[in-house]
Amino acid sequence: MAIKKITLNTLKEMKSRGDKIASLTAYDAGFAGLLDKAGVDVILVGDSLGMVLHGEETTLKVSMSDMIYHTRIVKAGCERALIVGDMPFMSYATPAQALGNAARLMSEGGAEVVKIEGGAVIADTINYLDRHGIPVCAHLGLTPQSVHKLGGYHVQGRDEETAMQILADAKLLEQAGAVMLVLECVPHQLAAEITQSLSIPVIGIGAGAECDGQVLVLYDILGITERKLRFSKNFLEQTTSIQSAIENYVTAVRNREFPATEHQY
Ligand code: KIV
Repeated sequence: MAIKKITLNTLKEMKSRGDKIASLTAYDAGFAGLLDKAGVDVILVGDSLGMVLHGEETTLKVSMSDMIYHTRIVKAGCERALIVGDMPFMSYATPAQALGNAARLMSEGGAEVVKIEGGAVIADTINYLDRHGIPVCAHLGLTPQSVHKLGGYHVQGRDEETAMQILADAKLLEQAGAVMLVLECVPHQLAAEITQSLSIPVIGIGAGAECDGQVLVLYDILGITERKLRFSKNFLEQTTSIQSAIENYVTAVRNREFPATEHQY
């Protein structure tokens, strides 16, 4: 049977129907193929590879050539999923720099959407990329590239002022042209409000069950990493193969069984 490629239109339709979007990270063709077969809608080639593949404490050392290489080999392994490529730290400090690097991630790496982290300060950059035909996924809440500024990997938007700031940033970035939003580690009530306020798909990680979809780091759901994260779950614990662990994750997201109350803030 012919494979129906996932596009941004598919995700928009899923949001409007209330169908949950299942997303995972991948960094190579082998795993990307397994994710694709399991029905993962969006594969994120995350700069989390700096931590889970390279063994670093942060994502800050990941380079543009790392991202192009990993996006290219993920793309080679899958046919169906939408491929989102992360723009690494300081690769989008100005709109012109962002355009050059995003163009490389798409033309050399094969990314279909590029992801950049930050609030109002990147609105002009998103708008500039959008006007040049580059679809951008924004990333708000806990933005790992700002880990030192944030003072660690902490939940964001716990108080009224920062919650309102994240909500305002989300609306601004949608207006600027963002086509998707990743919302990381924010209280579930805030994530629900943001998801309802935006017409673009909102994919949560540690943001509760009300987001339009969920993303997790593949190495966390397979128990390859040893980090204990409240918002994640080892899906290999209850099964015997990697393929069925990934399929169980997709089913749990689609059926609203994941995330459960214990995974949210
Ligand atoms: O780099 C990454 O894997 C990410 C996800 C954690 C959302 O940005």
